[in-house]
Amino acid sequence: MQTDKVTPTDAETVEPPVRPASELPFFSPDGSPGGASDAAFAKDPTHVFLEGHRKHGALFRVKFAEREQYAMAGVEANHFVWTNHDIWDYYSTNRHFREQFTDRYLNQLVGKPYLQKRRRMMQGFRPSVLMGHTDRMSEAIFREVDRLPDGVVDLRLFCMRVIIAMMARVLVQKDLPEGMDRTMALSNREMLKASNMGWKRWLWYQYPPKLWKRHKIFKYLGSILDERAQSGDPEKEDILSAVVSAQEKDHPNISRTELIHDLSQLFMAGSTTSSMIIAWSLIHSFTDTVWLEELRTELTDWDPYKFDSIDPYPKLRATTLEIERLHPGVPVFNRVTAEAFDFGGFRFPKGADVLHLHTLAHFMEEIYEDPDVFRPARFIENPELPPKDVHGTFSGGRHKCLGAPLARIQPPLFTANILKYYDMEFLTQPSLKEKYDAVVAPAEEPLMVRFTKRV
Ligand code: HEM
Repeated sequence: MQTDKVTPTDAETVEPPVRPASELPFFSPDGSPGGASDAAFAKDPTHVFLEGHRKHGALFRVKFAEREQYAMAGVEANHFVWTNHDIWDYYSTNRHFREQFTDRYLNQLVGKPYLQKRRRMMQGFRPSVLMGHTDRMSEAIFREVDRLPDGVVDLRLFCMRVIIAMMARVLVQKDLPEGMDRTMALSNREMLKASNMGWKRWLWYQYPPKLWKRHKIFKYLGSILDERAQSGDPEKEDILSAVVSAQEKDHPNISRTELIHDLSQLFMAGSTTSSMIIAWSLIHSFTDTVWLEELRTELTDWDPYKFDSIDPYPKLRATTLEIERLHPGVPVFNRVTAEAFDFGGFRFPKGADVLHLHTLAHFMEEIYEDPDVFRPARFIENPELPPKDVHGTFSGGRHKCLGAPLARIQPPLFTANILKYYDMEFLTQPSLKEKYDAVVAPAEEPLMVRFTKRV
């Protein structure tokens, strides 16, 4: 009987036929056919899909956020996703931003308007702008710790509030009015919650306490713009002034609403994510007493008001990298395909839901030895780490996190200032386990700690 088998000759290699992505194997954490991954993700957000990758490789199907999605994982997938920009539809994926702000929100723009706005906003994140404010950011940290009653606080909320106070310094050179940091921290969490709510998000948008917080924040940001318009130039360049003055000459004026929304985005973008990098950094540093002593020794000559480079502090740098690896704030990323494409022998249709597991490679044994262990020294012993397309914390490609340069300054600055000048006692014992609550957070909430000044 004749078969379809084709024998390749030296001159021709035969590609296996491309199969529809709907034929990909299905993975559910509890092994049930068609079972959803959401509950397991909420309890173990960074590891839940690792078993799927071990079983099925880079591509498999999952049920997540109330829909079936194609999971893409690993180094090759990261490279593919981050270098093929036009296959992703940001308009659908990030609709919760547009719906709560406007279609001038950065990740809602496409083509030239996107590139123009991105270029303009990037001007605010140059080291020369950011590093000019580390002294005032240090002041904000000390002020917030020193006014805690008995030094006792819930670590998560505290880190969120301090990050916002630091942002106020570098973004607009201000100290926020009493309570505004908390309002912003909570409002951002509420805004992000909408991403996985399906149609119920429309009810959520109308929730009065949520609307009230946004009204209060926008009114305050508007008052900063008015004040600046009246008083002229700020004392030195900050993110707001750098972004506004980078406006291209042939570009129409940025509207007041757009500026308020952009400020709001920048104020809050790091409050959820950078704050958790800091919380984890403190938790691990104070739990690993040997590393704590090594860090403190490295910080002997640390001057909180003269931090202009991480280079003299390799252990501090390695701590930040290790925390970004071990507890990436955003472990998975929802995408929608803007066009059909082939990857890994499968055809993905237009309009498909893709769950990009962009940080899964952080936990692959073939890349990192003992990947689940906190061991910052790995980044000192092997300066080649992380390999290309492995580190997904800030995503990659054209939409790579705009705030990454700042997110590489605030956590080490915060960590160094606390380690050098304070002890942190755990009143709630951390299990080092995670949960997902708009970000990869410690499982314990509240996680109560007490700061005391070192003598
Ligand atoms: C550790 C802290 C942070 C993490 C883990 C983080 C993570 C991310 C991720 C995963 C994205 C999505 C990229 C994509 O669409 O592929 C993103 C985008 C973005 N982030 Fe961050 N981020 C952090 C801090 C910040 C900070 C401090 C700011 C600003 C002050 C910021 C501003 C932005 C903006 C504006 C975008 C949209 C970029 C665009 O669409 O062009 N982020 N971030």
